[in-house]
Amino acid sequence: CGIIGFVGELDSGGQTDGGTTGSVGAIIHEGLRNLEYRGYDSAGVALVGASSGLTVAKRSGEVDGLTVPDVPDATHGVGHTRWSTHGPPTDANAHPHTDCVGDVAVVHNGIVENYEALKKELADHEFTSDTDTEVIPHLIEEELAAGAGGEEDGKEGDADLLAAVRRVEDRLEGSYAICAVREGDDRIVVARRGSPLVLGRGENAAFVASDVTAFLEHTRDVTYLEDGDVAALSPDGVEVFARGEPVEREIERVTWEADAAEKGGYEHYMRKEIHEQPESLRQTLAGRLDVSAGDVDLDVSFPPGFLADLEEIRIVACGTSYYAGRYAAQLFEELAGVRATVEIASEYEFGAGRTPDRTLVVAVTQSGETADTLGAVRRANAAGARTFAVTNTLGSTVTREVDGTAFIRAGPEIGVAATKTFASQVATLAMLAVAVGRDRGALAAADARSVLKDLQGLPGAVQQVLDEEEQVREAAREYGDGEAFFFVGRALGVPVALEGALKLKEISYDHAEGFAAGELKHGPLALVTPDTPVLAVLTDGARAAETMNNVTEAQTRGAPALGCVSAGDTYDTLDVSFEVPNVGVVEPLVANVYLQLFAYHVANDKGRAIDKPRNLAKSVTVE
Ligand code: G6P
Repeated sequence: CGIIGFVGELDSGGQTDGGTTGSVGAIIHEGLRNLEYRGYDSAGVALVGASSGLTVAKRSGEVDGLTVPDVPDATHGVGHTRWSTHGPPTDANAHPHTDCVGDVAVVHNGIVENYEALKKELADHEFTSDTDTEVIPHLIEEELAAGAGGEEDGKEGDADLLAAVRRVEDRLEGSYAICAVREGDDRIVVARRGSPLVLGRGENAAFVASDVTAFLEHTRDVTYLEDGDVAALSPDGVEVFARGEPVEREIERVTWEADAAEKGGYEHYMRKEIHEQPESLRQTLAGRLDVSAGDVDLDVSFPPGFLADLEEIRIVACGTSYYAGRYAAQLFEELAGVRATVEIASEYEFGAGRTPDRTLVVAVTQSGETADTLGAVRRANAAGARTFAVTNTLGSTVTREVDGTAFIRAGPEIGVAATKTFASQVATLAMLAVAVGRDRGALAAADARSVLKDLQGLPGAVQQVLDEEEQVREAAREYGDGEAFFFVGRALGVPVALEGALKLKEISYDHAEGFAAGELKHGPLALVTPDTPVLAVLTDGARAAETMNNVTEAQTRGAPALGCVSAGDTYDTLDVSFEVPNVGVVEPLVANVYLQLFAYHVANDKGRAIDKPRNLAKSVTVE
């Protein structure tokens, strides 16, 4: 999602002292256009006029299709591009959201984890959307009515938006970036916890946005807010508060061009998305793990008794999603005690001898639009099986054709080669496996707790790998000229080896293949030479010691060997060891981040079109 806000003193010619021109509405509309690259499904604005009050316009669809109302006396406003996480992309679910009185408007990125509980507390308020966000303006309304910042806080004067936002913040759980405006108040009040917010400092003008691209044509002087910061923006300037006390935050000058800024300073979306994984995984897991109870809340339900009687889970998917499915199948067997098979969606048929009413067909698809996967879902539905989707895209076709859906909440992915969505798919499927296992009584609470703790550690573990990027860059430089690349692993290491090879071939155009390590000696070994580096997954869950035997077989034939190794283990004979933090069954998933970085740097050294590799498309809607 994207946020933009502007407050400024425009003279009669519609210009600020700093040279920003246009009406408030036009400046915000342009900001929304600048944010389009992030991916979105709805857009909206809220404008505050000196005497006209609050005007809101919002709709699902394109930014260009949004009619920004003409508010000649507008002094400030906020805009938002929404990428659905709670509730489908409809006009009502688009931001900004307002309170009952209709004088407060809020735009929000992130997830309010306790919104259901808060909604219950707000029982006498009328809600008009399915979003988690909508609780925020209603809470602000309550705090204002209670006199926040005024008598309620032992002060003189009226209730105050800044004080109200601060109090609401104390009640929100989760991660968010919020911008609020109120009729009769000349400020934009913003708060940041876990989701980025940056302020733009102009002359007699201030901007706020989820990233600098939104306002780069107006100012390059920016202040990055820190977690926990609350700020008030007015034409007179910006005030920032941390824990209620005013603080000074540095003003930095942005030197990137818009194109680089869209990529957060990275050269490619793919590298940006690889680096976003700690954050996207946090979103995936947010509010879903109950570690102490050893349970998971994915907000999905099955008919009574269905899971207990389940005979088989059949996963259908394509490409990277197929490998996420292969990872998940092993988790379903291990944690949920149910037979799980995976099929390439284009090959899937509901075979004879299977019992539709005791089968769950799980379609894994980032886009929710892949024709092959939709075809498989339709065949499963026709056979009478229960169908379920794991997807990143609310409102996508697959969600309309299945009986239930779990969203992976990875945020939009722009690079054609899937990275962060793979990680979030596996994390979501792991949660589903725990939920099914607990429901079936196949997984003891203590065992569930241990898996959930590992999941909790996942974002931090991925961050530790990202911090080692320099080591991967060097390895890519040293081994990137290989004739072919072989990726091996066992158990949970197999899908990761397959995905590692797929990433490399997709973006570097090098010949890369993944194998079950044990199969190396049954054929592929004939291809091994000193010019064919072998990359191995040597972590927990991937039968590292046995895999290492196969790696040695390749090394004996002269191949260099690079391994992703669990912290604490050492294999002296490896040419390169990448250390993987200890997170149990998700260690191979963390190892995959090394393989993503390796693919990226090999391809980058070769000058490939990393974000749009030749002949490939992000979403393939033909069979
Ligand atoms: C295309 C993309 C792959 C993706 C696959 C499945 O081939 O290039 O990156 O893994 O489709 O896409 P889905 O949206 O169904 O996950």
